[in-house]
Parts: sequence; structure tokens; C-alpha cells
Amino acid sequence: PEDALVIFTPSGKRGRFALGTPVLQAARALGVDLDSVCGGRGICSKCQITPGYGEFPKFGIHVDGEALTEWNAVEERYKSKRGMIDGRRLGCQAKVMGDVVIDVPPESQVHKQVIRKSATQRDIVMDPATRLYYVEVQEPDMHEPTGDFERLKRALADQWQVAEVTADLGILRRLQPVLRKGEWKITVALHKGNHDGAARILDLWPGYHEGGLYGLAIDLGSTTVAAHLCDLRDGTVLASSGLMNPQIRFGEDLMSRVSYAMMNPGGDVEMTRAVREAINALAASIAAEAHLKPDQIVEVVFVCNPVMHHLLLGIDPVELGQAPFALATSGSLSLAASELELTNLHRAAQVYVLPCIAGHVGADAAAVALSEEPNLSDDMVLIVDVGTNAEILLGKKTRVLACSSPTGPAFEGAQISSGQRAAPGAIERVSIDPVTKEPRFRVIGSDLWSDDPGFAEAIKGSGITGICGSGIIEAVAEMRMAGIVDGSGLIGSADQVGSPRCRAEGRTNSYLLHDGSADGGPVILVTQGDIRAIQLAKSALYAGARLLMDEMGVETVDRVTLAGAFGAHISPKHAMVLGMIPDAPLDKVTSAGNAAGTGARIALCNRAARDRIEAVVHEIHKIETAIEPRFQEHFVNANAIPHAVDAFPNLA
Ligand code: FES
Repeated sequence: PEDALVIFTPSGKRGRFALGTPVLQAARALGVDLDSVCGGRGICSKCQITPGYGEFPKFGIHVDGEALTEWNAVEERYKSKRGMIDGRRLGCQAKVMGDVVIDVPPESQVHKQVIRKSATQRDIVMDPATRLYYVEVQEPDMHEPTGDFERLKRALADQWQVAEVTADLGILRRLQPVLRKGEWKITVALHKGNHDGAARILDLWPGYHEGGLYGLAIDLGSTTVAAHLCDLRDGTVLASSGLMNPQIRFGEDLMSRVSYAMMNPGGDVEMTRAVREAINALAASIAAEAHLKPDQIVEVVFVCNPVMHHLLLGIDPVELGQAPFALATSGSLSLAASELELTNLHRAAQVYVLPCIAGHVGADAAAVALSEEPNLSDDMVLIVDVGTNAEILLGKKTRVLACSSPTGPAFEGAQISSGQRAAPGAIERVSIDPVTKEPRFRVIGSDLWSDDPGFAEAIKGSGITGICGSGIIEAVAEMRMAGIVDGSGLIGSADQVGSPRCRAEGRTNSYLLHDGSADGGPVILVTQGDIRAIQLAKSALYAGARLLMDEMGVETVDRVTLAGAFGAHISPKHAMVLGMIPDAPLDKVTSAGNAAGTGARIALCNRAARDRIEAVVHEIHKIETAIEPRFQEHFVNANAIPHAVDAFPNLA
């Protein structure tokens, strides 16, 4: 025979190839996912495969020992220098000589799956925009008058089928010495955006280079800026870090920042500068944490609400402060990091900003949609990203709605008398005995409850410092269940409740959660003002969700997903007792962790995901809470705990 049957596993793709065809070439012809950085020159070893021999009843073939060519010198050299697992071959060197079954091990696949480590983590298929490519460039001679860059472009087109390539002046300046040092062999870091257009050379090295490429996925929130540093080769998160958004000094919430920009000429510029400086600082610290240099970061993906989006881009957000809340642009953006003055990265680093859904529903909501995929759901799912501004999505396969709701920072522990950010020492779980009205609690940093033996010892390092968002939610819900707070949110007096923990403070009452004063620690109270702040926040959240349910024409939802930096820590039962979310079966209320951050990570690691979310955002129908009269009505009814009108049968 002149040709042979080649079957690849695990894909099952098959085809007939002329004898002598390299396995890598057969894989490419069939669209089998087999990696290669050196373009088949036996240098990178990314193309390793495992041929199977013997009987394959499933495929109805027998593979004998001569199905592939013998080891050649290139393979021998590679194996002796770098070692190779027994049974493996280099796909670019081994050639087909007979019917054969070839397994592509996971590490040889370009589109590697990042393994799910916990329930809140998503599988991410690796297909990053920036990858390394090794090429061999034709030497110039007197008869070949083209420039070195033109010959590099031709090599990339011939060897990697990259049609269009650009490079900035910085790259062109380095090109000639690098080409000569590598003796016309060169590795380039090539960035291919998800839209058509030229691929961009971000960096180059003489010869074959195997260094790492890294990316940042940044969730730019109004209160916090959170970043994941990812290895762009395999998606591993090397470090996660965050800091307070320094724009807080210009206003706590989004609208106060927009008004700062309106009232103060140049105010938007100040805020833009502040947030960019913070991102530069964050890039430096997160790189240091992972023992990398910030200039190894070649890509950044941003998700953020529309106001943060405009301020990051240096666009005055004033239009977002008034109806009809027009965005300067709602589309995704691909640009150079230097345009955003993000100088603490690789000098040619590229930025991708997810698209916004509308003037009040930003790229953060788009990222939640990318991570949670309500557009693929068979049942009606409500997704609530709890933050200073809540992003709410409701929908299923047929239709997805979105809105945002100004909850304020109470859920993040701000505006709460003893509130603090979720950090060691913060009370995060609370339980109150309905009979004795005595509390017990857990503090971040220890798994023990406050009445467990060894608790004092376990929290010695941090002490008890305050109460965080999930703690205050549980505290208020527990106070309601124990009858310390009534349905209107009023804290009873010591006499009414029958507990000395209720203290009169002026004309209202407070509940004493913890008294650390004997040891010089804080006195942690839940005050009437705290309850009011939580009521306002939860009413806004609930009203937004109800508005979407009205629009969708549903009375109940099948599932609720709590997302957000601390969404993972909110107990479903307490959220429902408080009336933060509409009634649903308790086992159908789950947490997605920081879904916006996960969405950013997916977009960082997978180019196709960028296309996907751009298409999905187009289909999401958005509801403007600010101009919707029913919002006010829902808001007022949701002020009661859990609710003035709506029933919660699943709590019974
Ligand atoms: Fe690089 Fe085979 S493709 S070693």
C-alpha cells in the first residue's frame, strides 16, 4: 500500500496518509490538537505522542512494530539530552509507515483543560492569545533585497500559517542583533487577538526559547481591585492578590465618583491616575509574590462596571451619571497596556477589556455570564453578584435579562459600626440561640466556634477585630430568627427580648455580639443603624431580582447562584431569611465564588471565550432599574425582613 490509516486518540479523528508522512503533519491535517512550538524541528518536544501496538478491536486494526519509522538522530539526541518517557515519540520526527493508533497525551495538547480544583472553579480550555513560536528565517543575501522583518514575516507565514504580522519600533530595533545571535533561528511571542487583524510580535529571543508567558485577570471593582496572575501556558493561577481601590477617596460608591468628576474639573483625570497607579502597584506585588518580574506579564484582561471601565480607559464618566446612561463604547476593547499607562508590565503587554452590557451593567456582569453561562441553562437561574453594586442576571437558554442595583458597600462590611473587610479576626459566621439569645460565632482564620474549647488559643494571632459582610448578614438573620429583631427591622429592648445583650443606645437598641473590652479588645455591637444599612442593601438586591422576574414573567426561580468576592461565604439560608434573594429550594442556592474574576480568567486563557461573550452580551436584554417605577415599589416591600408581601415557602 502507498498509504496507511492513522487514528488519533482521545479525539478519535482518523484519516489515510501517504507513507512517510510525519505524525505531526497528519495531526495538523486532521485538526488534531497536537502542540508544537518549534514547528517540527525536534527542539521543543511539545509534540510528544504515544503509539499503540497490537490488536485494536475497537478500530478493527492491528498495529505492528513497524507502523512508525525507527528513531532518527534528532529523537535520539533529544532523548539523551533531555530524557523522554518510555514509549513516547516526537510527533514531528516519527513518520507513518503502516496503520497506527496514536495517543496524544494531555501535556501535548495545545488546548489543555485546567483541572477543576473545587466546586466553584471552572474548567478552562487553554487557548491563550499570546504564545511562543519558533521560526527559522532565511538569511539575507545580495540577491534577496528584502528586510529582515519581511523575511521573518514570510517565515511565520510559511512555518506557522500566520498571515499578517506587525511589530512596533522597539521590536524592529532589536530584530537584527537577535536574528544574528540566533543564527537566523528565533523565538517570537506572538499575540493574536480574537478579531481578525494582524498578529503582533510582543517579544523575541535568539534561537529556541522556552520562557514563561504570564497574564493578569483583573476584577476592577469600585471597592476592591482583585487580580489573578496566570501562567499562559497551562492556566495555573500562580498568585492572587487584591487591594482597595484608591478612588474611594473621591467617593465611596459609583455615583459619588461620577459626581466628583462632574463637580471638579479634571476630577476624572485624577481618578484615572489613581486607579492606574494602583494597578501598576498590584502588578508589581503580585509578580513578586510569584517570584516573577512584572515585565514577564504580557497580557491583562479587565472586567469592571461601566464607571470603572470609563475611568480606567480615561474616559470622563459623566454621561453614565444621567439618563439615558450612554456608554462611550459598549464593545470589547483590545489595546496596548502602554495606552493605559500600565507601565509595570512587559513593555508591549496587551490588554483586553470585556464588553459592557449597558450603561449600568458592565463588563463585570459580562464576565459573570461567561463564567456561569445562564444562556446555556435548562432551568431558570438567578445569578446575583453581590458587591457595592450588585449585578443581577436572570434567565435560561431562551432568554437572559440583566440589571444592576445600587446596594452600597454594607455587604462588604462598610457602613457597619464594627464592620471590616473579610480578613483574619473578622467575625464571619454567627449563630444565636433562640431561647437564651446568646450568640456564638466563628472568626476568619479558625474553624472553631467561639464556644469550642481551644477557640481563644486558635485566634490568638488575630484576635477578634470586627465583623465582615457575611458575618453581618448572618448576624441580622439570626437576630430575626431569635426574635431580637422584628419584621420591620427594629431591635427590641432588653425587656422585650429578655436578654441583657440588648442595650439602649439613645432612642434605639443595639445587640452585643462580643465584648472584648476586658482584654482591651473591641466591643462588637449590631446597632440599629447597622440593621438599617443591611435592610437598604438587601432591599435593593431583592428589588432588582424581582424586577427581572416581572420582566421574565416568572413568580419563582429554579436556582440561585450567589457570586462575588464574598458571595462564596454567604450562607443560603441566612440570605433567604434576610430576604436578600427570592425564595428557592435551599439546596438550589449555591455559590460561584468570584464569578467575575473567573470570567476574566477564562477570557485571559481562551481566545474563543472572548468571541463567545461578545456574542452573548449582544443577546442579553438589559433592564434599567433607575427609571423603572416598579423598582421603587419592590424596594419598599423588600425592606421588611424577610419581606412585606412575598412568601418564602422554602423557609418554612
Ligand atoms: Fe517541536 Fe516536535 S514539534 S519537537
